[in-house]
Formats: sequence, C-alpha cells, structure tokens
Amino acid sequence: MHIQTLTLALFASATSTLAAPNATKPYSTWMASSFTQKGQSLNIHYVQAIIHEGIQKAATTQKDATLLSYASKAVSSLVKADGTITGWDPLYYTLDDVRFGNNILHFWNAGGRKEKKYEIAAKALRDQLNRWPRTPKGGFWHRAPVYKNQMWLDGIYMADTFYATYTSYFEPNNVTAWNDISLQFELIEEHCRNHTSNLLQHGYSEDKSTVWADPVTGASPLVWNRAVGWYFVALVEVLEVFPKSHPGYAKLKGYLTTLADGLKKSQDASGGWWLIMNEPYPGMKGNYIESSATAMFAYGYLKGIRLGLVDAAYKSTALKAWDLMIDEFVQYEKNGTLSWTGTVEVGSLKGDASYEYYIGVPLALNDGKGAAPFMYTATEIELAGL
Ligand SMILES: *[C@@H]1O[C@H](CO)[C@@H](O)[C@H](O)[C@H]1NC(C)=O
Ligand SMILES: *[C@@H]1O[C@H](CO)[C@@H](O)[C@H](O)[C@H]1NC(C)=O
Ligand SMILES: *[C@@H]1O[C@H](CO)[C@@H](O)[C@H](O)[C@H]1NC(C)=O
Ligand SMILES: *[C@@H]1O[C@H](CO)[C@@H](O)[C@H](O)[C@H]1NC(C)=O
Repeated sequence: MHIQTLTLALFASATSTLAAPNATKPYSTWMASSFTQKGQSLNIHYVQAIIHEGIQKAATTQKDATLLSYASKAVSSLVKADGTITGWDPLYYTLDDVRFGNNILHFWNAGGRKEKKYEIAAKALRDQLNRWPRTPKGGFWHRAPVYKNQMWLDGIYMADTFYATYTSYFEPNNVTAWNDISLQFELIEEHCRNHTSNLLQHGYSEDKSTVWADPVTGASPLVWNRAVGWYFVALVEVLEVFPKSHPGYAKLKGYLTTLADGLKKSQDASGGWWLIMNEPYPGMKGNYIESSATAMFAYGYLKGIRLGLVDAAYKSTALKAWDLMIDEFVQYEKNGTLSWTGTVEVGSLKGDASYEYYIGVPLALNDGKGAAPFMYTATEIELAGL
C-alpha cells in the first residue's frame, strides 16, 4: 500500500531531469551500491566508518553477498593480522575515531567468526577509554586538548555505542562500565536538555570557559539538528544492548521517550527538520530543512519501534520523513545510481556557535553523514515491509 503511494508520488513529482525510480529496487542496497561504485576508501574517520556500516546494514538486510563482502574486506584490511588498526593513534583522544570500533565489533560478532585480530583491535579502543581525559564530573572530553571539559551530543554516538556494545560482548557484568555509560548520557541531559521543548542543545562546557557557554548550565546556545540526530540514534543503539536490570536502562529509556516527543513536535510540515531546531529559528531566513538529521530521526524512530523502545504511533512521523527523503533528498542519476543531497558539511563548537555560523556552512553532495543514515533508514523500512 505504502509502496504504491510512494511510486505514485515519485512519478508525479519526477521532473524531466530525474530518471523514473524503480520502486521494486530496495533503496538500501541501491544507495549502498551507488556509493561502492564511486569507490570508497575506508579509514578510521567516522564518516567512512558509517558509510561502511550503511553498506553492511544494507547488505545484511537484503542478503547481498557482493556488498557484504565489500564492507567486510574493507574493515578487515584496516585491521592488521596482529590487531593493529591502521592510522589509529592510541594517544590521540578524539571521540570521533572511536566510532570505527562498531565496524570491528560487527564483523567480530557476525557469522560467529570471532576473529582474534578484531578482539585485539576492539580491546585497544576500549582500553583507550580507560585513559580518556574527563570533565570533573566524569564526562569524556570531546577531543583533547582542544575541547577540554566539553561534551558534545555527537560524541555520545561516536563512543558510547561502541562502549556499550563492547561491554555487552566482553564484560557484561562490569557494573562500573554500565554506570559510566549511563553517566555520559546523564551529564548531557543535565546540561543540554530543554524540558519545555524536550530538545537538547549541541553541547556544554563544564568549566563554562568557552565563549558560547551559558553562565548557568554551560550549554551552547542552539539546537543543531545533526547533533540531536546522533544522540537520538545513540540512545536507541545503547538501549539495544544495555542490561534491563540496571537502573541506567530506565533513565536512558526516559531520555529517549522525551526526545521522541520533542522531535515529533518540531517536525516541519514537509516531513523534515530545520538545521537549527530551537525557537525562534525554524522558518527564519537562512535556516533550512537539512537531510542528515531528517534521516537520523526517521531511523531512530523506526529502529526504536522495531525494538519496542518507542511508541509505534511514531511510525507516521518516520514515514513522512521517509517520503521527503525519497522525493527531495535522493537524486536519481541518469546512469541509474542514486546521489544524496541536502546534508550540511559540518557543525562545530570550535567557534562562536552562533546562528550565522551554522547557517553559513555549505551543503555537500553525497555526504556520508547523511547518506549513511539514509541507508540505515532504508533497511528499517525494508525490515518493516513498509
Ligand atoms: C526494477 O528492478 C528489478 C530488479 O532489479 C528488475 O527486475 C526490473 O526489471 C526493474 N524494472 C524496471 C521497470 O526497470
Ligand atoms: C570495568 O569498567 C571500568 C570502567 O570502564 C574499567 O575501568 C575496568 O577496567 C573494567 N573492568 C574489567 C574487569 O574489565
Ligand atoms: C526552552 O524551550 C522553550 C520552548 O521552545 C523556549 O521558549 C525556551 O527559551 C528554551 N530555553 C532555553 C534555555 O533555551
Ligand atoms: C553516475 O552518475 C553520477 C552523476 O553524474 C556520477 O557521479 C557517478 O560517478 C556515475 N556512476 C557511475 C558508476 O558511472
């Protein structure tokens, strides 16, 4: 039923420059193979890590052996036989580089292979967290030394899914680790959550030493959509492996529930979300509906529904976002491949974190920070038979 609606909508909206999309082709592998055809070069940077995660998720969902082999070989070639990760510096502390640990854990676990080199590599990343510079309250610095005493929502996605999945595989009874994972979320909630809008600001400075820090909470002034997207997905991913008997589980579930509410309330009529989400910015000159967060929110809802973590009533919110993605953000190329549009290149707290800064960052074509979450979303659409 829904596929038919989509097909009609797509044909109706197809302009002369767009090839008619093939509604029987799954979007997950379609986007994934469009990316592999361009040639990807995996390194430990999180953008390549998530593109390969997207390829792997698409391949697994659609049982596509060629794509699965592509992702598997790429991850394997970055981890040497002795477990060393090429290009990774164990003394450089940036949460972004921890994300790659999820690719390693996936291929350690998948197919029951449990390769030793992956275990060694994952342990090295895990051990680094034990040495990580922390805020006085125990939060991981986003990056040392530049972002001393700062936590960003982005960092929760980069490091804590890995931390939680690793713990679930190798140290399931390590209560200290589960407490610590929960603490990372608690600190973000304490400093960044707005209990009226249910949204969260981009990050906070615990010592309030940065130019943008709120004098009371230390928070940065604006709600940047991609940071919230990372955080929403991280809540779902961490809850997937978090022990239900631990008090942190109910806390995290509560954070997810309130954020799911805040996101629904802030969804634009188009189905997407504004780059800067907090009042009074939606609709303001320079602000726009941005694609990476739109994909992340849709993914978080759909995966959350599948896992029973969020209310199934949010399906319509996710589907509205999905329709926008395949009508507007997916670009149908003449050679049959897909491109991905509408993703902002970056949003950082290194400057003044002003509205002018965020809206001044350009958009990029085929940016993995949007295309990968689109692949994730497509797999959930396909798993749910939507
Ligand atoms: C759509 O894709 C499927 C599978 O790739 C193929 O069998 C079919 O012929 C395609 N249909 C059109 C109209 O291109
Ligand atoms: C348990 O987790 C804590 C916190 O991350 C860590 O310091 C400790 O080494 C872990 N214990 C074991 C036995 O792995
Ligand atoms: C929290 O959100 C409400 C509703 O959007 C807004 O009026 C208020 O200014 C926000 N508070 C802060 C500190 O941003
Ligand atoms: C298909 O077309 C797009 C847009 O022109 C281009 O970027 C891409 O490299 C092409 N892919 C192949 C496999 O030719």
